[in-house]
Amino acid sequence: MPKTNLCVLLLLALGVPTFAEDDIQLPDGKGREAVEAACTVCHTAERIAKQKLTLDQWRSTLREMIENGASLNPDQWDPVVTYLAKNFGPKLDLNKASAKEISASLQWTAAEADAIIAWRTANGAFRDLKDLAKVPGLTATKIDEQKDRIAF
Ligand code: HEC
Repeated sequence: MPKTNLCVLLLLALGVPTFAEDDIQLPDGKGREAVEAACTVCHTAERIAKQKLTLDQWRSTLREMIENGASLNPDQWDPVVTYLAKNFGPKLDLNKASAKEISASLQWTAAEADAIIAWRTANGAFRDLKDLAKVPGLTATKIDEQKDRIAF
């Protein structure tokens, strides 16, 4: 029965047997409960969290997962896609992003985003998080919250 064997292999590869001990805690937010309930049945949340996908890519992943058998009401699709893109989106290059992209993607204020652009214009490209910490008005807490979502 090659088909059954393939299924077993797939489930092993997805890490199903160890999911209870090893799985990660998903970040808070609207949509989290739906993801926990519908998306950790066949594989770990970690498998989801490792992805860095855009909104459109998450939308098509969700479609695939529903075809795979994920049970999610249509009224949960949008909140779930928004949640996934917000928390597991691609990194933002702070040396290229516009102020608008910075505030939309990192939930920083327009003033903070403008201060980033001003620093970049005056000092040249950011090299690392230490440079970012020099931006006036941007707190260490804010930087820490988003450090995994930033690239230079
Ligand atoms: C019925 C089982 C099932 C459910 C429920 C399910 N998935 Fe999946 N998922 C799979 C399988 C099987 C794969 C592997 C597909 C492949 O490798 O082609 C996968 C792969 C993935 C991947 C790609 C991981 C990688 O390493 O490339 C992501 C992301 C993902 N699922 C997200 C989700 C999300 C989000 C949900 C909830 C809406 C969900 N899954 C619910 C079965 C499921």
